[in-house]
This record gives sequence, structure tokens and C-alpha cells, in this order.
Amino acid sequence: MVASDAQSGLPPEPQAVVQPLTRAAIFLVATVNSGGASREAVRSFCGDLPALLRAVGFRDIEGNLSCVMGIGSEAWDRLFGQPRPAELHPFREIRAGARHAVATSGDLLFHIRAKRMDLCFELAAQIMTRLGDAVTAVDEVHGFRYFDDRDLIGFVDGTENPTAQTAIDAAYLGPEDAPFAGGSYVIVQKYLHDVAGWNALPTETQERIIGRAKHSNIELDDSVKPTYAHNALTTIVEDGKEIKIIRDNMPFGRVAEKEFGTYFIGYARSPRTIEQMLENMFVGRPPGNYDRLLDFSVAKTGNLFFAPSATFLENVGDDAPPASQELSAAPAVATSPPTPKRDGSLGIGSLKGDPAHE
Ligand code: HEM
Repeated sequence: MVASDAQSGLPPEPQAVVQPLTRAAIFLVATVNSGGASREAVRSFCGDLPALLRAVGFRDIEGNLSCVMGIGSEAWDRLFGQPRPAELHPFREIRAGARHAVATSGDLLFHIRAKRMDLCFELAAQIMTRLGDAVTAVDEVHGFRYFDDRDLIGFVDGTENPTAQTAIDAAYLGPEDAPFAGGSYVIVQKYLHDVAGWNALPTETQERIIGRAKHSNIELDDSVKPTYAHNALTTIVEDGKEIKIIRDNMPFGRVAEKEFGTYFIGYARSPRTIEQMLENMFVGRPPGNYDRLLDFSVAKTGNLFFAPSATFLENVGDDAPPASQELSAAPAVATSPPTPKRDGSLGIGSLKGDPAHE
């Protein structure tokens, strides 16, 4: 059993983390400006997001518009205080040789997905208008789906994503942190590729780096797959069981600037899984046996957020301190988990079919 809605007995409704891949996405990262008014504005926005999403998404219901809102560690304390998600902390940067997984600023993440970019764009614009002076956007990436779901280094990206119940189990917290059941941890990194350098490699070398055949997308046999292959280093096994994450990477770029990128986004019920993958990629498993993809890819951003359940967001109250109270003041109001008031579906996520959540 997970924490349930106190009034209805229903489990908390998650945000739309587990979604089919879409043609378009916008990744928007913002910081919350100082001052009590900013804090109050963001708190009140949390409950408004579902209505904004409905308003824009209903203009083309077949466009599958969705949005996941994530909150960074420091922002969590400023916005919500206690209790806080047990494993939420600032993104841990990694330095190893020439490789650097940077940590960059960011209090809020909006991961907006749809079949059409205009839906994503309109929602992003509405979100920023509503938040107004309360936030400053620090990064905005518009991602597109490239041929055969390939990334800009030419490989099909996303194949081994879990589906159905396995995806739900991988993405959403359960009883291990009951007040935050239905939430997910999310790590984002914006990578830029040296595409010219990469394309100069023989295809066989590229395939050994990724661990899959480029054309057919078939996984290399273990007898030929190097231990440094990307898909080897990102396979995490604990107690004999593989721990999966949910990825929805998107290519982005600007040809005139010779910018060719992959926006990495990974969701998991514990950040440890993704952090272990990063450690394996950047430092190596064993150390030194690192991911050669990083010889051709530089991480420009790095953030860890917590995406609470939709029920949590919907019930963020208006118990903000006076507008004059500074954000930097110690964890503001020690709100208890929101009192759920479930009055109908938010339409932005579902735990259907998850026995752990039924
Ligand atoms: C430079 C940016 C990246 C690119 C271009 C990239 C590309 C790929 C490709 C082509 C695959 C193989 C097909 C698939 O199963 O999706 C893959 C697999 C995978 N990647 Fe990445 N990736 C990147 C960064 C990352 C990062 C930062 C992580 C985690 C921290 C990660 C985690 C994974 C995982 C878990 C798999 C599946 C492994 C398996 O079960 O076979 N990737 N990636």
C-alpha cells in the first residue's frame, strides 16, 4: 500500500511521467526569484497547472499534450519546507579526466510533450506568462523526433525503455517514501556532440561504443560487446535484478551554429539508479573503463528534480508567509503533505494497472 488520498482512499495520482514517445518536446528550466511574492506565485501556480494544461491540450485532444513539473532541492525547501522527498538533493557533479558532468542552476523543470510543437510552445508560453516575474528561465530546449527515433549521432534511442507495469514500477515512488508516493526523481542533462568527430569513426567503432548495430538497431552480442559500451555501463543490476529508468531523450540543434545535441531526461523512483549510471559513464566501471560516447559529447547542464504526484501539486495550499518574507529564509512553512481533496481526474497521469497503487 502507498499513501492514499485521505478523503477518497484513492492513491495519489502521478504526473504524466510514463508516456508514449512524442514527436515534439520542450524542456524548460527556471529559477524562482527571491522574495515572498515569488514563492507565493509559484505555490499558487502548482494548483493552476492542470487547468492550463486542459485549456491548451483540449484544442487538439489527439495531440497528447502533457507536462511534468519538477522541483529542485533548494527550491523544495523554499516552496514547501517539510516533509521533503527523502532522496532529493542538488545534482552531484562528477569530474573524471577530461569528462565533467556539470551541475547547473535550476529550481523548476517543465517537461512538455506533444505530437505537435505548437501545443508545446503554447503551453510553455502560458506557463511563463502565468509565472511572470516570479521566475527566470535559465534554459529552454526545443526537441524534435529524428528519423526512426534516432539521436543526432545516428542511433535509435529509447529502445530498451521499460513499458507497461515495468515502466510504472521504475518511475513512481511507492511505500518506500509514502508521503511522496506517485512522485518521481528526474535528472536532465543537455549534451552537445562533436558530430564531425563522431562521423569520422568507422561504423563498427560507433557500434561498439553504443553497444547496438547502427542500421538494424540490434543489440551487440555479449561476446563482441565491450564492457565500456554505453548500454553495458548503463545497465544496473541490484540483487540479481535489473533496475530500469524511463528515458525520453530528444535531439535538438541549430545547424548554422553547428550545434547538434541530445537532451537527456531520465525518470526513476530513486535518483541513485541514474547517479550510478552517470558514475559508470564518466568515471568508468571499473574506473577508467568509461563511456567513449563522452569523448564526443559534452554535458552543458545537469539538474536533479523531484516531480511530485499531481495530487500533491493540486493540493499545495495558499499558506504562504507574507510577501515580504525573503525566500532565503530558512525552510518556510512546514507544511504537512497536502490534504488531498480529489474532486475528479486531473487527466495528467494514471497509475492504472499498478497493483502497488491500487
Ligand atoms: C550523450 C547523450 C546520450 C545519448 C546520445 C544516448 C544514446 C543512447 C542509445 C542510442 C542507446 C541504445 C538504445 C536504447 O536502448 O535506447 C542508449 C541506451 C541507454 N542509455 Fe543512453 N544516451 C545518452 C546519455 C545517457 C545518460 C546520461 C544515461 C543515464 C545516466 C543513459 C542511460 C541509458 C540507458 C539506461 C540505456 C539502456 C541500456 C539497456 O538497457 O540496454 N544514456 N542510450
